[in-house]
Amino acid sequence: MPVPLLDLRAQHAAIRDEVVRAMMEVVDSQHFILGDQVERLEAEVAELSRTRFAIGCASGTDALLLPLRALDVGRGDEVVTTPFTFFATAGTIHNVGATPVFADIDPATFNIDPAAVRAAVTPRTKAVVPVDLFGQMAPLEDVAAAAPGLPIIEDAAQSIGARRRIDGAWRMAGEGATVGTFSFFPSKNLGGYGDGGMMVTQDEALAARLRRLRVHGGAKQYFHDEVGYNSRLDALQAAVLRTKLPHLAGWSAKRRENARFYDGALRGIHYVRTPVIDPANESIFNQYTIRVERRDELQAYLKAREIGTAIYYPLPLHLQPCFSYLGYRRGSCPEAERAAGEVISLPIYPELSRAQLEEVAGAIRTFYGD
Ligand SMILES: Cc1ncc(COP(=O)(O)O)c(C=O)c1O
Repeated sequence: MPVPLLDLRAQHAAIRDEVVRAMMEVVDSQHFILGDQVERLEAEVAELSRTRFAIGCASGTDALLLPLRALDVGRGDEVVTTPFTFFATAGTIHNVGATPVFADIDPATFNIDPAAVRAAVTPRTKAVVPVDLFGQMAPLEDVAAAAPGLPIIEDAAQSIGARRRIDGAWRMAGEGATVGTFSFFPSKNLGGYGDGGMMVTQDEALAARLRRLRVHGGAKQYFHDEVGYNSRLDALQAAVLRTKLPHLAGWSAKRRENARFYDGALRGIHYVRTPVIDPANESIFNQYTIRVERRDELQAYLKAREIGTAIYYPLPLHLQPCFSYLGYRRGSCPEAERAAGEVISLPIYPELSRAQLEEVAGAIRTFYGD
């Protein structure tokens, strides 16, 4: 039985009428850029994230770039981040002219290790960018304590709606950071029908600057206080996302249910380690990522059985050729390097049937001769 890594058509089929109606309303209005739909989505995402402000932009990448600019991060500055993430997290730091400084990960959760953050901070550090990887929030309170007084840009591209218990209270992804960032790339738990992103913050002045930066830096059209970007969210994407948003909690709950199935079905296979979710966290399982031995062989075996998997991420960012100028070597971030050789992400999307889940778990068990 084929089990794709992700089947967006299954989700679309369930909401097709709603989405098409919402999109046609935008088409009939002929108002395509920013505007009412985007403002409404911003209000809804701010409510979900329990932040005062939300600012839509063109992608999850720009959602990182604009706050770096808004915090005046640039040439001569260092920004501490994780090497085990999607490229955009560090690419944007480079693109504002600053230096990415990589702090190794906690091998249990794959998220940045606060002790490594503490060791990486120097007088030149201007910000820290932890990532809420695979749907699980980073230990933000410990990251903040490790970098006292420094702004935190929380890359929550994979974690909209995730939460973490901090000092006895639930905190939403994005809520406690200087700026939290989301991606609406189609494969995310809340995915658009194209690119899109959003930034959330509690800081009014920062929100105003982010809003300016997404329209070439001008608060008033044709008058520019600074040079910004064209990074607007379009109304069609906002209409799609607004249709999907009420389903998000249910979809993420279904992913957690699927994760529980795998946790049970893969238990006891000597060569497999199922994901570790920090007891303080509620993950949205954008990915279900296990560690295994003979990873590449397993992937080929599953592929031959039409089971889709992915390696997030095969080469940590400190070892990417484009960052060779930074001088990192193999061994600089040993945990990220080990993870890159062992991880494999399994299908986890909400519409998976029980039979498909059993197919995946059964194939892994058979591969290891269990
Ligand atoms: C951790 C992380 N950061 C940033 C991004 C960039 O988002 P986008 O693809 O929407 O630009 C992504 C997603 O692709 C991501 O997973």
